[in-house]
Amino acid sequence: MDADHNAPPASHYEYVMVDRVQNAKVKEDAYYYMDQLVGWCSKEKAAVLIDIIQKNRAKVVVEIGVWGGMSLVPMATALRANGAGKIYGIDPWDSQESIKEVMNESNLAHWGQVDHKGVMRSLMQKISVFGLQDQIELMECTSEAAPLIYDIDVLHVDGNHSDKTSYFDVTKWVPLVKKGGWIIFDDMTWYENGVYTTARATEWLNEHCTKIGEFSDNCIWGVWVKQ
Ligand SMILES: C[S@@+](CC[C@H](N)C(=O)[O-])C[C@H]1O[C@@H](n2cnc3c(N)ncnc32)[C@H](O)[C@@H]1O
Repeated sequence: MDADHNAPPASHYEYVMVDRVQNAKVKEDAYYYMDQLVGWCSKEKAAVLIDIIQKNRAKVVVEIGVWGGMSLVPMATALRANGAGKIYGIDPWDSQESIKEVMNESNLAHWGQVDHKGVMRSLMQKISVFGLQDQIELMECTSEAAPLIYDIDVLHVDGNHSDKTSYFDVTKWVPLVKKGGWIIFDDMTWYENGVYTTARATEWLNEHCTKIGEFSDNCIWGVWVKQ
C-alpha cells in the first residue's frame, strides 16, 4: 500500500500507520469474516479502519455505502473488541439509487441489474452468524434520507460515487463528525466519461479537514481528520 508521506500532519500518519496497534486477533477474525462477504474493501484498508477505531476507542461509527459489509464488518469487529460502540450502516440497497447520475454504460449495466436486496439479506444473516448484532445497526435508506447521527468518531464514505451524491455525502455527514474525528473517503479518483466524479467531494474535504494520507490498493482512498 502506497501512502502520501508528505501529507500533513505527519504525526497523524505515524499515529495510524507506524505506531500500529497490536491487535492481530481482531484482524484475524475480521479477515476470516471478510472472506465470506462480498464487496471491495481490501484487507490493507480493513487493517487501517480497525486501527483507527481501536486507537481512538471510537464509539460512534457511520458508514455510507455498505453493500455486502466488506468494510462494515471489520469495523464492527474492532468495536466488539473495544467492548463498546456502534456502527450505523446506511445503504438503500436499491438499484435505482445506485444508478442515479451514473454516466458510464458498464457501471449502469452492473448496478442496474445486480440483486441489491439479496446482498442485504445475506449480510444480515452473516452479521448474526458472526455475533455482531450488538455492534451493527443497518439503516435501509439513502444518505439523504437517513436521520442525523451526531458526535461521529469515524465516518467512512463509500456510497454512490456521482458528483452530486458524493458531494452531498461529505457536506451532510462531515459536519456531524467530532472535532478530531476521522473521515475515510473511498474511490477518490472515480472516473466516468472523462470526469473525476468524486473530485468536488475530495476538494471540499481538503478545504474543511486535514488530509493525512492517500492510499492505493484496488482504488485510491484517503484519510482526513476533522479540525
Ligand atoms: C461501492 S459500494 C460500497 C462498498 C462497501 N463499502 C465495501 O467496502 O465493500 C456502494 C454502495 O452504495 C450504496 N448506495 C447507492 N446510493 C446510495 C445513497 N444515496 N446513500 C447511501 N448508499 C448508497 C449502494 O447500494 C452500494 O451498496
